[in-house]
Amino acid sequence: MAFKTVRNLIIVGGVAVATATGIALAAGGSGPADGYKMVHKHWHWSGFNGTYDQEAMQRGFQIYEQVCRSCHNLDHLAFRHLGDEGGPFYDYKYPNPNDNPLVKNIAAQYEVTDLDPEDGSEVTRAAVPADMFPSVYTNAIEARSVNNGALPPDLSLIVKARNDGANYLYNLMLAYDHPQPEGLSLSPGQYYNPVKEGSKIAMAPQLQPQVGLFEYQSDTEGQNPPEATIEQMAADLTEFLAWSADPKLAARKSAGLMSMVYLLILAVLLWLSYKRLWRRLKPSED
Ligand code: HEC
Repeated sequence: MAFKTVRNLIIVGGVAVATATGIALAAGGSGPADGYKMVHKHWHWSGFNGTYDQEAMQRGFQIYEQVCRSCHNLDHLAFRHLGDEGGPFYDYKYPNPNDNPLVKNIAAQYEVTDLDPEDGSEVTRAAVPADMFPSVYTNAIEARSVNNGALPPDLSLIVKARNDGANYLYNLMLAYDHPQPEGLSLSPGQYYNPVKEGSKIAMAPQLQPQVGLFEYQSDTEGQNPPEATIEQMAADLTEFLAWSADPKLAARKSAGLMSMVYLLILAVLLWLSYKRLWRRLKPSED
């Protein structure tokens, strides 16, 4: 009897500890500060078969180029990736993105350093789709020195580099105008942002109410773009950067679906052959 009680106590205690740990882990330690409520959006690509929205990604790329590019790199992206299947400028007429005129145009606006094939000297030339996005800075020391000592991180993987990255990025862009707590001291070049850990960030608010200041180009379908409100811009930017952090999402989801169908058919066939193989045997009596 006593043994059973002790055993039950151990089980109940174990379950309680496991639940508490689970809750603590799920809460992810520190959340946003000062009563800021995270907005959790329903993203196009979430869910069982969701994919990225091409027009939203194109708008997001436009914001990256016009607003964020002056400080942030896209280290892991080549221009041609923009024209890959599932990418913002994919066009089925150009299965090879190196031939895609939109991608070529985008690349041609950037300069990259290369070696002269004749004499090996360093030359600067217009980028081609096969080039990587060139770095904004010569090195991290320069990056820090022009940003008050803070290092602007690479944005191509930022959605993967932060917990719940898409919602984090979206809210980081919107949270600047949350009322600042009294008595908070900020050093020069620092801004209050309750989403960032520690609530201080060395980046000024980037998405101002730019209605009228910033206009979306019409997308490749020629459709009228939405109004550039802060929420719209933050959402489009998140769509683009979510794609850049996980460009193979659509291909992976369809491969997953195909293998599920395959396994299902295989399971039915196995069950039928099992029935056929054992059909002469009767179940035993005992
Ligand atoms: C004038 C330069 C500048 C521009 C323009 C800029 N940023 Fe930043 N950004 C910074 C700096 C500097 C940091 C590092 C801040 C820190 O460590 O406190 C930063 C940090 C970040 C971070 C990381 C926050 C974290 O959790 O550590 C994200 C995400 C970000 N920026 C997104 C953007 C986006 C999106 C845009 C365009 C809409 C943008 N930034 C435009 C300078 C800039």
